Amino acid sequence: MDKKKKIPFGLDKRTWHPSPLIGQIVLVTTVNADNASNVAPKSWISMMAFDPPILALGCNFQHTTARNILRQGELVVNIPGAELAEVVWRSSELPHPRPVEAAGLTAIPALKVAPPRIEECKAHLECVHDHHVSYGDEIIILVKIVAVSIDEQALEVPDAYEYLQLFAFLEADTFGVIKRGQHIYE
Ligand SMILES: Cc1cc2nc3c(=O)[nH]c(=O)nc-3n(C[C@H](O)[C@H](O)[C@H](O)COP(=O)(O)O)c2cc1C
Repeated sequence: MDKKKKIPFGLDKRTWHPSPLIGQIVLVTTVNADNASNVAPKSWISMMAFDPPILALGCNFQHTTARNILRQGELVVNIPGAELAEVVWRSSELPHPRPVEAAGLTAIPALKVAPPRIEECKAHLECVHDHHVSYGDEIIILVKIVAVSIDEQALEVPDAYEYLQLFAFLEADTFGVIKRGQHIYE
């Protein structure tokens, strides 16, 4: 029988094809010094602890998102469905100032923090800054989730994941979609 051959792969994530790691695509909202909103897509994001509920977010230090979180201390992680993929990509190219409306999206108040939620997204994690660690121009920000909200419809359909259409960054200009939830013993 043929043995599976392992080949070395580069260290630089930018060269990975295919990417062996995925990152869920989210839209992060923060507030600028003048209280206007800022929106940016991020995919270096993951849950890190249950109790307290901690998320880690990787961001370029020069980005408005990182600067706003370090200055003002709050953010909302908005969860878009894959139907917003083009809007998400386009939003990353918009000039600043870049309020939610500039991306063609609707800002609605959050429950506990100053940055807005995005109505067209399906779930929202409201967070406050906890810690951060820098690596050169990049920063890992640990934030505590203080409120969560989700579209009521997600709880009314047979498969919530089919409703959510969560999607993940694979490599430049390429994403993958979770089209349904699959039970382990299905
Ligand atoms: C799908 C997607 C995912 C992205 N993920 C990240 C990320 O995880 N971290 C990051 O620093 N930039 C990421 N970017 C790039 C930023 O969105 C982009 O540089 C943006 O203009 C930064 O906006 P800001 O300065 O308002 O934060 C991503 C872009 C796209 C399109």
